[in-house]
Amino acid sequence: MFFERPDTGERSILVHISLQSEYEQEDSSEFEELVISAGAVPVANIKGARKQPSPNYFVGSGKLDEIAAAVHACKAEVVLFNHTLSPSQERNLEQHLQCRVLDRTGLILDIFAQRALSHEGKLQVELAQLKHLSTRLKRGWTHLDRQKGGIGLRGAGESQLELDQRMIGRRIKSINKSLARVRGQREQGRRSRKRAEMATVSLVGYTNAGKSSLFNGLTDAGNYVADQLFATLDSTLRRVALPSYGEAILADTVGFISHLPHQLVEAFRATLEETVEANLLLHVIDAANESHAENIEHVNTVLNGIGAGNATQLQVFNKLDLIPGRAPCIQRDENGRPYRVWVSAKTGAGIDLLTEALAELLGGEFVTQTLKLAPRQARLRSQLYERGAVEQEQVDEEGFYHLKVRLPSGDLQRLLEQEGPAHCGLQQEPAANWSGAQKLRAV
Ligand code: GTP
Repeated sequence: MFFERPDTGERSILVHISLQSEYEQEDSSEFEELVISAGAVPVANIKGARKQPSPNYFVGSGKLDEIAAAVHACKAEVVLFNHTLSPSQERNLEQHLQCRVLDRTGLILDIFAQRALSHEGKLQVELAQLKHLSTRLKRGWTHLDRQKGGIGLRGAGESQLELDQRMIGRRIKSINKSLARVRGQREQGRRSRKRAEMATVSLVGYTNAGKSSLFNGLTDAGNYVADQLFATLDSTLRRVALPSYGEAILADTVGFISHLPHQLVEAFRATLEETVEANLLLHVIDAANESHAENIEHVNTVLNGIGAGNATQLQVFNKLDLIPGRAPCIQRDENGRPYRVWVSAKTGAGIDLLTEALAELLGGEFVTQTLKLAPRQARLRSQLYERGAVEQEQVDEEGFYHLKVRLPSGDLQRLLEQEGPAHCGLQQEPAANWSGAQKLRAV
C-alpha cells in the first residue's frame, strides 16, 4: 500500500514535550520563534511531559488524542514537533493525524532552504535536505515522482523505493561535485586575501543577535536584514576600513541556535571555514535577551565543534538601546585588552568604539601619553573614559585633570583635532613624567 504525505500549509500546531533527559530538552519559546521565522502561523500550542519518548508516536495515546482534536478544531495543516522524530514516528503520526508532521530538523531545514542566497548555500541546503529525506524514504512517497526524468528510468522489477533512493543518490553525487568546485574557488579567494595580508574578522553569534545589522553598520553594505531567525545563510565578505589600522575583511555568518542538528553543523561547516580561519571573532550578543548568557555558551559550543574554540574573541553586547541606563563603552581585561564592547547596531551608538577595539586587537599602533585637561574639557575626558583609554587620573589644586591614557595613535590624534586647533588649554606631557606617588585616584 502506498501512502501519500498529506499536503502542508501554514496553520500549525506546536508540540513541545518536556523530557527528563537534559540532552533532549529544547527551549519552547525559541521554538515558537523558529516556527514564525519559517513563515508558519501557530494556531495551538500543546505541551506535555514524559520520562522518555514513546517509540511509535513520540507522545503517549492521551496526548495523541489531544493533538488530533486540536488539528480538527483548529483546521491545522501541519503539526510541528520541537524534537527530533524518527522516520517511523513521523510516518505513524502523519497517518494517524491525517496531517503533515515536521520535526525540528525538518523545520530548520525548511528555514535554511528559504534563506540560502548564494549558489553554495543553496547547494548545501539541498544536500542536507536530501540526506534528511533519504532516511525517511519509505514506499509510497510518490511526490518524488515529479522530480525524476521519465523515459527509461525505471528498470525492470525495480521498486519505487529503490528508484527514489537511486535518484537521491545521483543528485547527492552531483551536488557534491558542484560544491567541490565552488569551494575550490573560495579557497583561491582566501589565498589571494592572505597574500594581500588582509586580516579577516568574522561575525558570529546566536541567531537574531544583530550580526547583519552590525555588518551593515560597519560596512554600509546594505545587506538584507530581517526580524527573522537565520536571515543570513551565506557568509558574506566585505572590506572595512578601521581607524589607525587600515583595511580588514569582515565576514558575516549564519546565526547559531541551540542544539543545531549535527547534520546541519556538518552542512554549514564549509560556510563557517571563514570563521575558523579568522584572525578575530566578533561574538555578537543580544544583551537585551534574558537568555543571553546561555546563548553565549551555545555559540561557544558550536565554535569548539568547528575547531574555532581558541580563536581570539571580542564580545559585542548589542541592542543597548533596549537597556535603560546603558552607555556605549569598551570593557577591558586585567591586561588592558578589550574583551567586550557595548553598542547598538540600530542607533549606531558605540560603533566607533567597536572599530577602535577591533583595530587595537588586530594590532594597531598604540601610544601612551599624559594629558592635562582643563575642568571645562569634560567631554574629551568622558570620551577617553568611554574608550577605556584612561589608565590613571589625578586632579591638581586648580582643578586640572592629569590623565595617563593609552590608545591607538590615530584615535588620540582625532580626539585632539576635534578638541579644536589650540586644544583649549590641553597640554601633552610624555608619559615618563608621570609619578605614581602623585596619584590621587588610580583607575
Ligand atoms: P540571523 O541572520 O538570524 O543570525 O540574525 P542576525 O544576528 O544577523 O540579526 P539581524 O541583524 O538580522 O537582526 C535581528 C533583529 O534585531 C532585526 O529586527 C534588527 O532590526 C534587530 N536589531 C539588530 N540590532 C539592534 C539594536 O541594536 N537594537 C535593537 N533594538 N534592535 C536591533
